[in-house]
Amino acid sequence: KTKGFIFDLDGVIVDTAKYHFLAWKELANGLGIDFTEKENEQLKGVSRVKSLEKILSWGNKTLPQDEFKRLMAEKNEDYLSYINRMDESELLPDVRNKLTFLKNNSQSIALGSASKNARYIIDKVNVKDLFDAIVDGTDVSKAKPDPEVFLIAAELLHIEPKNCIVFEDSVAGIQAANTASMVSIGIGSKEVLGEADYVFKDFTEISEEFLNTLINN
Ligand code: BG6
Ligand code: MG
Repeated sequence: KTKGFIFDLDGVIVDTAKYHFLAWKELANGLGIDFTEKENEQLKGVSRVKSLEKILSWGNKTLPQDEFKRLMAEKNEDYLSYINRMDESELLPDVRNKLTFLKNNSQSIALGSASKNARYIIDKVNVKDLFDAIVDGTDVSKAKPDPEVFLIAAELLHIEPKNCIVFEDSVAGIQAANTASMVSIGIGSKEVLGEADYVFKDFTEISEEFLNTLINN
């Protein structure tokens, strides 16, 4: 049986949250707004526009449209200066093994990310060839928790949503997968991702036996 395995990018394939943190912190502090790991946690899975809106609301600030746009571009430039230096060593543990296992077992694999930098990043860490379809922030009009990103991925794979399995590290992403009637697998902590069908700390905890049950059920 061929199932659709859909992977989020940031926090699932690569740990880019630390780079988003550095870039948002620089921007927030520049506006006199406090920004710690706690705030960063709340931006996981959240689009670039929504992230800046949240930061401004934490600092009780509003900005004219052109200034808002300028700051978003500046943040992304800063973020990309970290991404430029990434290589394969920044793939999260066992990600390549599990992708290869699925590929060798004739499964369909897609990327479902909110990031507009997704194509660039999977190329940097050298896993682009393992994906049959890529859906990213440039392809969607509705951000997670809306299921749009995953539904487009299923369509591109020609696999029904109920035969798709989503790997996600954010609450919004798990909600999107659930709304799409897909199997949701949280990568992270059970406390945060309680709404997922299954939760694992990382891919080293996911056995090939478990992947086989997903394939065959
Ligand atoms: C998500 C990240 O995958 O993509 C968010 O978890 C990020 O932190 C969002 O804001 C948008 O990414 P980008 O690269 O287009 O700014
Ligand atoms: Mg993520």
